[in-house]
Amino acid sequence: MNGFSGRVRNFAPLAGLTWYKLGGSARWLISPSTDAALAGVLARAADRGIESRVLGGGANVLVRDDGFDGVVVRLDGPAFTATRFDGELVQAGGGVDLMRLSHECSQRGLSGLEAMAGIPGTVGGAIRMNAGGRNGEFGGVVEGVRVVDRVGRVEELTRDDLDFGYRSSGIGNRIVVLARLRLTRSDRVRTLATFRRLMAEKKRSQPLGAKSAGCVFKNPACGSAGALIDGVGLKGVARGGASVSRVHANFIVTRRGATSAHVLAVIEYVRSEVSRRCGVDLELEIDVW
Ligand code: EPU
Repeated sequence: MNGFSGRVRNFAPLAGLTWYKLGGSARWLISPSTDAALAGVLARAADRGIESRVLGGGANVLVRDDGFDGVVVRLDGPAFTATRFDGELVQAGGGVDLMRLSHECSQRGLSGLEAMAGIPGTVGGAIRMNAGGRNGEFGGVVEGVRVVDRVGRVEELTRDDLDFGYRSSGIGNRIVVLARLRLTRSDRVRTLATFRRLMAEKKRSQPLGAKSAGCVFKNPACGSAGALIDGVGLKGVARGGASVSRVHANFIVTRRGATSAHVLAVIEYVRSEVSRRCGVDLELEIDVW
């Protein structure tokens, strides 16, 4: 690509870049150095009818065994992984690690992101899906974002342009390259204690040490997907090397020898059993590529 600023790899294995450590290669894996380079890549791909995806921390993605025949973009360069603190305002690149940011804010006595303790991923991914849980959601601290759309247009959006809901935002398939966040000044001892308490709570109730992609299904309107799956006795159900976690039933964990097909088979089985026995159609929270 003429004048492209960044790194391009062909037929690049994706497994090592995801939490599941599963799946095939990307036809192209591209790390652009700047917003303009990212916009250029997306515009070219769109022009040629090539599909594109963004890989953040790889925490919420299951790559199929035969890989992804398109462009995968990673925001892992300095332009996308920097953080700037200015009082209660924080500017963070779309590729900034969520837990690192949450920990750093807590350490500085800035409150608002403690609930991200134990949630893997990047700032861009967390905004797109309004990551969070019972103790708060990422959308709560967002003032505005800079996004690049799939044909390469750069836009600045304010909080009012976004439509944060349960695991959703108005971002759609645009890519967050920069986020402007507003936190609340608090006491450092208190914010750190909250961060640590929430982290410990997750370690108790979730299989954080195992290979997984966090919760697999969104919670349905009637409550917790984990509780439903557990309630119909599906903990431990396995297909090949993938199984429903015995710690938290909304996690599918894998062991050596697992493939993406095994995880997909567990997903399908859980879905059909929960639908048959509870009349609830579970929707995926993770992305399958
Ligand atoms: N429960 C069971 N069995 C299970 C799992 C849960 O009975 O196997 C029960 C729990 O005992 C509890 C209730 O279900 O009474 C809710 O469980 P939990 O507190 O774990 O919350 P959740 O709704 O299952 C949500 C988020 C998590 C987040 C937690 C904590 C979703 C899909 N999940 O889980 O997010 O960490 O709250 O804030 O919204 C993720 O998004 O990847 C994720 C793990």
